[in-house]
Amino acid sequence: MKETTAVLLARRPEGTKVAEALTLGTIPLPDLTPGAVLVRNQYMSVDPSTRGRMDPGEKQYTTNFEIGGPLDGSAIGIVVESESSILPVGATVRHRSGWREFAVVDDSAATICDLAKAPATSWLSAMGQTGFTAYAGLLPVGELKPGETVFVTGAGGAVGSMAGQFARLMGASTVIGSAGGAPKCAWLTDECGFDAAIDYRTADMRAALGEAFPDGIDLFFDNVGGWQLVHALHNMTIHGRISMCGAVSNFGTKDQPSMAELIETVLRRVTIRGFIVRDFEPLRPEFEERVSGWLASGDLVDRATVFEGIENAGAGLEGLLNGANLGKALIHLSD
Ligand SMILES: NC(=O)c1ccc[n+]([C@@H]2O[C@H](COP(=O)([O-])OP(=O)(O)OC[C@H]3O[C@@H](n4cnc5c(N)ncnc54)[C@H](OP(=O)(O)O)[C@@H]3O)[C@@H](O)[C@H]2O)c1
Repeated sequence: MKETTAVLLARRPEGTKVAEALTLGTIPLPDLTPGAVLVRNQYMSVDPSTRGRMDPGEKQYTTNFEIGGPLDGSAIGIVVESESSILPVGATVRHRSGWREFAVVDDSAATICDLAKAPATSWLSAMGQTGFTAYAGLLPVGELKPGETVFVTGAGGAVGSMAGQFARLMGASTVIGSAGGAPKCAWLTDECGFDAAIDYRTADMRAALGEAFPDGIDLFFDNVGGWQLVHALHNMTIHGRISMCGAVSNFGTKDQPSMAELIETVLRRVTIRGFIVRDFEPLRPEFEERVSGWLASGDLVDRATVFEGIENAGAGLEGLLNGANLGKALIHLSD
């Protein structure tokens, strides 16, 4: 029987200290049955949801990892053996059996990535679930219209940097992001075309948002939750909209605001809508068409922080949670 190296959950982590809760081990690779392929993974995606799935609590839309068992997540790789009529040897495919070096995947659970449209790393970033989350959160969920003002939290990260750039390309009048530290903020304004960026670690966020959005925020794309959500609430336009993408501050931040702050949604008649990207799958062809065009024209910056080798998977996830990464966090496994 064949086997592969995989990242296993050794124990449940505390807060953002995740690397010490992971270990490397081997897991068996089943023989190929009709429709299955063996994939050599090249890159795997690091996502905040990976951290959430290490906890034992109930998840509404996915499964939790078991102690002693392997992690999983989005990955891209090359088909090296095939029993599939639609995925030939040599094809580059995206699937969900990452956090291991090789994976046996059914062809119904993998899609071919056209490298003429975007490089392999972009199929996990701008052209992957990351970009699609930003797209869904802005359009069907946020109902963004040209000329509107947009604020994005976690803007130096994967989804946030896409959300801000997509909003600009979709005609928003003002796009401002928040991120941790001056280098990330400078990257947003100098390279990604944000109108301004606010360093949430040093700024008086509520006042800074008041200055940046004198007429209020029409659409707030929130990746972070916590106090930044409250400060944005106080700066929404009447009938403003909040697209609730995630709350990454939940993992390490003890000082969280009270639910009493939500009264501001009443005073400002604000609509808050949470979403899960997988509910918007029918929009994927239109999304890939638009984003591959923006990549080809050079209008979209798709930056990744790449960690080398499966042994650095935990460091990559810890970097994501601590804000050390710029753009999309990826682990490189093979060429
Ligand atoms: N709804 C969906 O379907 C869906 C799908 C995918 C992702 N998401 C969500 O989208 C959000 C972004 O995901 P991502 O993959 O793009 O991750 P990411 O933004 O690349 O990484 C997380 C970033 O959050 C920031 N952060 C961490 N702790 C923070 C805190 N306490 N306060 C403020 N900022 C903090 C860090 O940047 P700084 O340096 O700026 O602190 C960090 O780099 C997450 O909430 C994720 O759960 C939702």
